[in-house]
Amino acid sequence: MPVQEALRIKELSKVYRAKAGDVVAVDGVSFEARKGEVTVIVGPSGSGKTTLLYLIGSLESPDGGEIWAFGEDIASPAADLIRYRRERVGFVFQFFNLISALTALENVMLPMDLQAVPGSRQRGRAEELLSRMGIDARLQRAKANKMSGGEKQRVAIARAMANDPDIILADEPTGNLDTATGRVVVDILVKLAREDGKCVIIVTHDEDIVKVADRAFSMTDGKLAPHDR
Ligand SMILES: Nc1ncnc2c1ncn2[C@@H]1O[C@H](COP(=O)(O)OP(=O)(O)O)[C@@H](O)[C@H]1O
Ligand SMILES: [Mg+2]
Repeated sequence: MPVQEALRIKELSKVYRAKAGDVVAVDGVSFEARKGEVTVIVGPSGSGKTTLLYLIGSLESPDGGEIWAFGEDIASPAADLIRYRRERVGFVFQFFNLISALTALENVMLPMDLQAVPGSRQRGRAEELLSRMGIDARLQRAKANKMSGGEKQRVAIARAMANDPDIILADEPTGNLDTATGRVVVDILVKLAREDGKCVIIVTHDEDIVKVADRAFSMTDGKLAPHDR
């Protein structure tokens, strides 16, 4: 799988305005991330990790800087953000964010886009993705609220892959899992980079995850620095 630059972030910043004073959540962050590679950003709570990931996924808009994704600046007003979110990005969250009353299969099919996955292919693709994540046929038909944390996160990863995005953004993906289960989830994310050529970005407070990184950074008070391993 040839390595290809997916993201180039330049001097990115985000300020939250609050009565008690402004918070510079992301402060002049620059880095690059590639397809086929795992980038890990480690930092304590409040250091700006979630905000940075939301900026990259265009769930928040920046106050300054550039986010070049496959040659397009998605921080520019002219960017086609709906298309970017639909075709380029898959999110994995700490608290899974599944719809609890729906089955695993339904959760994975829900975000599928007719252009990315034709209607006749949606169920089959969801089954394939879930099987690959180790969710068997019986569990695929179980409601999300009947599942363990590890199972939920594997379903959430299948959902993130629904439209075959180029970039997978994972926010504390092991934060709600025990160590062994967390390791399984990290291994899956690594495979999505190594085998599927995805650009995987994991933000976490867990220093241990740095071990799997191709590129690692630390985040402190909104600023990014190379991680000294
Ligand atoms: N919606 C918001 N409004 C105001 N302040 C926020 C908001 N979201 C985050 N913050 C603040 O921005 C800083 C970074 O938060 P966050 O990105 O959630 O960090 P992390 O994910 O590393 O814990 C913190 O000081 C947090 O309190
Ligand atoms: Mg966070």
